[in-house]
Amino acid sequence: MANQTVTITDNATGKSIDCPVIDGVHGPSVIDCKKISSELGMFTFDPAFVTTASCESAITYIDGEQGILLHRGYPIAQLAEKSTYLEVCYLLLHGELPNKDQCKEFKHTVYQHTMLHEGLLRFFTGFRRDAHPMAMMLGVVGAMSGYYHDAMDVNNPEHRYLSAIRLIAKMPTIAAASYKYLLGHPHVYPCNELGFVENFLRMMFSVPAEDYKINKTAVRALEIMLILHADHEQNASTSTVRLAGSTLANPFGCIAAGIATLWGPAHGGANEAVIQTLQEIGHPKNIPSYIEKVKDKDSNIRLMGFGHRVYKNHDPRATIIREVCHELLKEMPQCKENSLLFDIALGLERIALEDEYFIERKLYPNVDFYSGIILKALDIPTNKFTVMFAVARTAGWVSQWLELMNDPSLRIGRPRQLYTGAAQRDFLPMETR
Ligand code: CMC
Repeated sequence: MANQTVTITDNATGKSIDCPVIDGVHGPSVIDCKKISSELGMFTFDPAFVTTASCESAITYIDGEQGILLHRGYPIAQLAEKSTYLEVCYLLLHGELPNKDQCKEFKHTVYQHTMLHEGLLRFFTGFRRDAHPMAMMLGVVGAMSGYYHDAMDVNNPEHRYLSAIRLIAKMPTIAAASYKYLLGHPHVYPCNELGFVENFLRMMFSVPAEDYKINKTAVRALEIMLILHADHEQNASTSTVRLAGSTLANPFGCIAAGIATLWGPAHGGANEAVIQTLQEIGHPKNIPSYIEKVKDKDSNIRLMGFGHRVYKNHDPRATIIREVCHELLKEMPQCKENSLLFDIALGLERIALEDEYFIERKLYPNVDFYSGIILKALDIPTNKFTVMFAVARTAGWVSQWLELMNDPSLRIGRPRQLYTGAAQRDFLPMETR
């Protein structure tokens, strides 16, 4: 803690308090304003928490101006280039990259938990065939609370770790099971001889009647997509997981709360919206007229997959995923419909580099622009895109939940409010209302 303080004065009473300023390793310092309530009798007001640091965390650091994203200090580009999703999971959970033995042991531990309890599998058949895959994932992850309660004591560090591993291991199985149910195909059980991503693709796309050939370019593209979405600091779903966790709720319930939050179109739904936009444009020749509509303020149309709330110069994840996306489109043969969509996407990407409207406002294609295209090229149905995001983000959710639960100063989260309703008044008898 630095010696610097910020003095806050209530001009009405003349009373002042000195609030300590706390420095982080990187990024803006924070003002510790806890005394404002006890000493000045006021709360701070920060709707949507845009200037509030809600917790201390040593997991992920983002600098939106500089386009920096670090996990445990490591730049995302280095992790995407040199690491695997499971290694990144280990890093997020443990704080350090695993050595060879730790890596082997971690993989073994995760692979021991890839199967779902048969009872949990029966949950899928209770859904309508056309249920959204996020609805199934939300329900089944919540239902895990009723299946793994043998190790669900949140005060027990071993139980907490096991729950985190179970979630990382079972999310791909749940994601694939929801897809198989939708198709009416039999569930494909995990095969622990395969890598994490290979296994996932096999559970999604193999059928008992045919051999399934794993495409290496597809595996690498999906691996990178999972790494790039593994954690993103205190975003809405992660903050939800932490708030739920602060009540000592069980881990499966907390992650289900995160999944529900991610499902919102303003959060995890953008990559799905990118494909809908490409379909709406329909043909590269329609791009100019669509762009004119986007630029027309009265149209209220935003170009999905462009711009970012935090990254104002560039999204470091987009730079990496752009290359992967271009490589994938070059190497994997695509159906006619996909080829047309990708021509439109490349046309939009060119405009971002050339059109004054986009240059002036620093509107670059973001990570979701490319992840939507990658998932489409991998034949993953559009309504499963957010499910893929949830599989990846589970690493971040469980790491942030464990960090919270390991914090000795953990207290229930309880924001306050600025009340603007009716002033106190007396009850009105029915006949006088
Ligand atoms: N298309 C057209 N114009 C845009 C867009 C867009 N996608 N995004 C911003 N603008 C314009 C906006 O109209 C404004 O123009 P003006 O100054 O003339 O009023 C200017 O750019 C600044 O916009 P802003 O509203 O201050 O930007 P923001 O930080 O509030 O919004 C955003 C960020 C991501 C919500 C927005 O860019 C957007 O809606 N993008 C499309 C949706 C999308 O792709 N979301 C996924 C983001 S990445 C997800 C992740 O990191 O997990």
